[in-house]
Amino acid sequence: MNPQKVKNGPNFMQQLNKKKHVDCALSSNSESSDDEVDEIVAIKKDVQKQRFSVSAEAYGQFNKKENFKAKFIPKSKEQSERIKQRMQAGFMFSALNDKEIEIVVGAMEEKIFHKAEYVIKQGEEGNVLYVVDTGELDCFKNYGKGDIFLKTYYPGESFGELALLFQSPRAASIIVKSDKAILWQLDRETFNLIVKEASIKKRQQFENFLENWDLLKEIKDPYDRLKMSDALFEKQFKKGDIILQQGQKSNEIFIVEQGRVGVNKNNQKLFELTKLGDYFGDQSIVAGTVESFTYVAEEEIKLMYIPKKSYSSTLKEIEGTLMKNIQIKYGKYL
Ligand code: CMP
Repeated sequence: MNPQKVKNGPNFMQQLNKKKHVDCALSSNSESSDDEVDEIVAIKKDVQKQRFSVSAEAYGQFNKKENFKAKFIPKSKEQSERIKQRMQAGFMFSALNDKEIEIVVGAMEEKIFHKAEYVIKQGEEGNVLYVVDTGELDCFKNYGKGDIFLKTYYPGESFGELALLFQSPRAASIIVKSDKAILWQLDRETFNLIVKEASIKKRQQFENFLENWDLLKEIKDPYDRLKMSDALFEKQFKKGDIILQQGQKSNEIFIVEQGRVGVNKNNQKLFELTKLGDYFGDQSIVAGTVESFTYVAEEEIKLMYIPKKSYSSTLKEIEGTLMKNIQIKYGKYL
């Protein structure tokens, strides 16, 4: 994290919780609120652009009520593949199924920006989010005393979702750093009806755990913690399954959610990981070495995991702590 970064930004978790009530209402059979109806009416009115119908099951119960027609911008096969590739690299779309991905790809619109151009200005109204195709962009936030640099966005990353999630003004500014940047722009309606629901569901699923996971106490910016849930997945293992083998490199950091994981070295059991939040696979991902232990499911277990490709955008800022923990956790067995 940038040392200059001011840490008193809005509590996005609280805002998200507020929004959850709306989303629950949307996905139940209850009556919609006035705001929701306005939103739906606005979508229906937008008939000038080319659209195509999407079947109800593609985007959940809410859509059984309304015949949402997603925006569709024709693209070459190559362009569609590129967008999919970019979407896979980031968090935002990780909870979507294949059909939802097709809809989102169809709705994306190419936008080209040049060096020093503002793609987003803090404080302005926002109706779209962006996925970086090529180029680099810097994110700055003004907490009242001038712009503070927060981060650089690279291909595959997305930004501009907060204004859509919370119907708030843009929370930061995004400026093109490279000579040129090609971005894919996604409209509010498609985001709200396809991406938001899946993304919020995913964030809800892991919210409680992330709020209380000791390891994350150093990550002060609620926005960074919020993003982490997009990078978390779940896997189940049966008793006796080998999760990770001594001498191999892991592609994930695994986190214990439920059940006991035996830690073995040279076919001898050393100890067990049993606590919610105990994690392994860090030797490969954080230290870049092979694993010194074999991890075995001692019973039917549930693990969360963060894929290797998401490490740099989620846990890298606490790498110092993670390295220290490797010593503390395994030092005496190495
Ligand atoms: P949005 O508020 O729509 O527009 C500015 C974007 O900057 C915001 O969405 C996020 O995608 C991105 N951003 C990156 N880091 C932060 C941060 N710490 N706080 C707020 N916005 C951030």
